[in-house]
Amino acid sequence: MAAGPVLEVESLTFQYRRATEPAIRDISFSLEPGEVLLVAGPSGCGKSTLIRAINGLIPHSYRGELSGRVAVDGRATTEVRLRDLAVLVGTVLQDPRKQLVASTVSAELAFGPENLGIPRTEMRQRLAEVVTASGIEHLVERTTDQLSGGEAQQLAIAGALMLRPQLLVLDEPLANLDPAAAYRLLELVRGLADGGTAVVIVEHRVEDVLEARPDRVLYLEEGGTRYLGPLPGFLDVVDPNLVKVPFSVHLARAHVFQNPSQMLFAPNVRDEILFGPRNLDRDASGFDELVTTSLARVNLAEPEVESRPPLTLSYGQQKRLAIGVALALKPRTLVLDEPSAGQDHRSATAFMQEIERIDGLESVYFVTHDADLALTHADRILLMRDGRIAADGTPLEVIADRERWIACNLRFTSLMEANARWRSGSERFLGAQELAAWVAEASGRTEEGRVSQASNWTRDMEEGLEGT
Ligand SMILES: Nc1ncnc2c1ncn2[C@@H]1O[C@H](COP(=O)(O)OP(=O)(O)O)[C@@H](O)[C@H]1O
Ligand SMILES: [Mg+2]
Repeated sequence: MAAGPVLEVESLTFQYRRATEPAIRDISFSLEPGEVLLVAGPSGCGKSTLIRAINGLIPHSYRGELSGRVAVDGRATTEVRLRDLAVLVGTVLQDPRKQLVASTVSAELAFGPENLGIPRTEMRQRLAEVVTASGIEHLVERTTDQLSGGEAQQLAIAGALMLRPQLLVLDEPLANLDPAAAYRLLELVRGLADGGTAVVIVEHRVEDVLEARPDRVLYLEEGGTRYLGPLPGFLDVVDPNLVKVPFSVHLARAHVFQNPSQMLFAPNVRDEILFGPRNLDRDASGFDELVTTSLARVNLAEPEVESRPPLTLSYGQQKRLAIGVALALKPRTLVLDEPSAGQDHRSATAFMQEIERIDGLESVYFVTHDADLALTHADRILLMRDGRIAADGTPLEVIADRERWIACNLRFTSLMEANARWRSGSERFLGAQELAAWVAEASGRTEEGRVSQASNWTRDMEEGLEGT
């Protein structure tokens, strides 16, 4: 593979022949091997036009006025024939049916390599690899005219991979896919990138594409660059009414990622905390205090911590920093994705208690598979199963139906058993210590003998929790 960027786009402007103004204007960026660039923006902002300019359809197939430069693997697309570009750039068009040329799936996959004169044995090997990697084993015997939209999309992607391109460009690849297929595709994309392929993925359903962990985002509005940079900064500037972003962005733009390193990118902790406030043009005279209080609130007020690179902090500290970063924006709402992941039970509980104490928060949303954490800290729970809401209610309501609970891949914990046993008919689910105290007191009020029973329960519960 050549050293240097796979793709260079310099001051690119293109106006379609009969249009009155450019579809894209003055776009510049470059892409290194292994990088995933998400191109987002509302419909009509020029995403597909950019894709066409990258894979050479502009200017080779579309007429218009082009200025600036696009180079793939160091060669200007204007100077390279389309069929040669096709080897370097694998493309999946927005309407994948438009790019299918053969009548059977296997002929479609063989089409590109055959045109390049790739030997049969090599072809068979690639075919087997690509079919497995893209999960289309079930389609191999089919004819292309029988494929659903989603299947055509999967085939188009597989066809692009047959040429082992250095650069893969995908134009809204999720549009026709169900969540499971979309998830597989994004995993595939991430895997390809980890193996060195550069990927440009156009998608306005930003939320869904996060699975592929894009390294950078190019956000277009009316043909121009509105933002180019890492994902968290993008989530700060994006208009959530134009692009489908995580729910959190609608609420407060204070989303805390499941994996904190996904959202930490500044050279040091101080800059990390101030990234949002600076972008929002908040008053800089309050920044020193903002950094101090944000760090203190998440228990990171240690000496020198401000100047450390965020990724040198421990996982738990990174997680807390991520929340400090969110709090620095003074949100009304906080959204936490798996707040207890990577934390032991004690720190997870302490952490949730801290969150509950934060002033000025109107609501907290958190996503978790830690059932006890949810049951003890939430007022309302949405129970999810296969991407759907299986139940919506108070903690005691959502656990009332045991079969439903188990069907959601959750277990009945000892704390749940204890609540069921001691608190049936009551309004509120109690945490371990609270319930233990309640049981002890209730037993004391009734008969002496039950106190020892209660303490057994307490012990069981603590042991149960240790295991979570
Ligand atoms: N073949 C074409 N000829 C003329 N104008 C076009 C053509 N394709 C797209 N456009 C225009 O260029 C602009 C950008 O379109 P497009 O790149 O398809 O946007 P997106 O993919 O972001 O929805 C739009 O105003 C659209 O109408
Ligand atoms: Mg488009």
